[in-house]
Amino acid sequence: MEIFLDSSDIKEIKGLNKANLVDGITTNPSLLASANTNFKILLKEICGEIKGPVSAEVTSPDIPSMLKEADVLRKIAKNIVIKVPLTWNGLQVCSILSEKKVKVNVTLCFSTSQALLAAKAGATYVSPFIGRLDDIGENGIQLIEDIKKIFNNYKNIKTKILSASIRSIEHFNAVAAIGSDVATVPVKIFKELHKHHLTDKGVDIFTADWKKSGMKILT
Ligand code: E4P
Repeated sequence: MEIFLDSSDIKEIKGLNKANLVDGITTNPSLLASANTNFKILLKEICGEIKGPVSAEVTSPDIPSMLKEADVLRKIAKNIVIKVPLTWNGLQVCSILSEKKVKVNVTLCFSTSQALLAAKAGATYVSPFIGRLDDIGENGIQLIEDIKKIFNNYKNIKTKILSASIRSIEHFNAVAAIGSDVATVPVKIFKELHKHHLTDKGVDIFTADWKKSGMKILT
């Protein structure tokens, strides 16, 4: 499973990219707005740091404006992926851009029918939002499982499932077990992924035993 960072915080992105474990980035209008800086310069910097796909979202509701915005965003860097909302207009924009071989991430997906339509519209990625479904008492993980099952039924579907709105390590582990192609995680969750209390305990025990022995690897 590929791991994307759901962030527009360039300092955090640079720090977390040091281990070469970040395969891509997803941004959204809320994240870019919270950075409170020139979004084009910021996206360019992110695209320079992360060589993988970087999703940037259109914000207009109508098709001509969405297409114009997509053009502006695409010019920022080669690895920009155009994010469109899963609206009727968004699906049409997805079809138009996909025909032109532009990579599209169809976002704000909350049902299997929506995911299937995004795939038929040629989306490179579809982003089902787990946490926001859980927030309204539904089961976000079940949606990932259902979409995976449906996509597996049709060999011609090449659209990747990009599990989004991940709020916990349990979410991350569950989508990996289902076979999600990508999980996009906020910085806070990404930093927790490698941790286990038995790892820390084990390191402490090994270090203490080694110290007692008086032996040294580096002389
Ligand atoms: C993904 O592309 C979205 O930006 C993100 O996962 C939304 O997460 P949230 O529901 O926690 O805001």
